[in-house]
Amino acid sequence: MTQDELKRAVAAAAIDEIKPLLGNDTVIGVGTGSTANHFIDLLGALRHDFKGAVASSQATAERLKAQGIDVFELNHVGSVPVYVDGADEINPRLEMIKGGGAALTREKIVAACAERFVCIADASKRVEVLGGFPLPIEVIPMARSYVARELVKRGITPVYREGVVTDNGNQILDCYDFLIEDPQRTEADLNNIVGVVTNGLFAARGADVLLLGTERGVERIT
Ligand code: 5RP
Repeated sequence: MTQDELKRAVAAAAIDEIKPLLGNDTVIGVGTGSTANHFIDLLGALRHDFKGAVASSQATAERLKAQGIDVFELNHVGSVPVYVDGADEINPRLEMIKGGGAALTREKIVAACAERFVCIADASKRVEVLGGFPLPIEVIPMARSYVARELVKRGITPVYREGVVTDNGNQILDCYDFLIEDPQRTEADLNNIVGVVTNGLFAARGADVLLLGTERGVERIT
């Protein structure tokens, strides 16, 4: 199977996973990226079975609307029973690196509100130790150089993702050359640098369920 076929397979598995949670009042959280896009495309067939969705990016909001799914502001939604999203890397504790698509801050906010986080990923995303994928950090533009210097002090090599402006009007630094042995501590430490909006470690709030697309089929890991 191609990587794209594996992504579609886990998106289909996520539809089965969330179906029991859907009802007239249900608003679900929807992530960003190519795997989440497969999920959105399949979700369209269920649009009459639930109230709508909260989107983790402008791109996701547009794709949901194209499927006829109502999109709600998070501030107008009381509860989010489930959030479905992809990942750039995920470890055995279901801690993740996210933000390859620059949507990390809104993804983290929706994930924080959700009762359950269902991660959908093809097998290439599964790692023992996070850090092979460069960790994205969203920064306030005027703080970019300062944050970069603070990262260098920590032995990290930051690279400015040129030409990218997040949905929040901010910039992204991608962090190379470090393996993340203690994701929760690193997540908190990096978030403490003044000017950081958030970083792409999802460790304090990891996934509850991983649907992993492999050649043997979709594995459900909790
Ligand atoms: C976007 C993300 C995505 O979930 C992550 O980049 C995975 O993307 P894809 O499903 O395209 O592999 O965090 O900010």
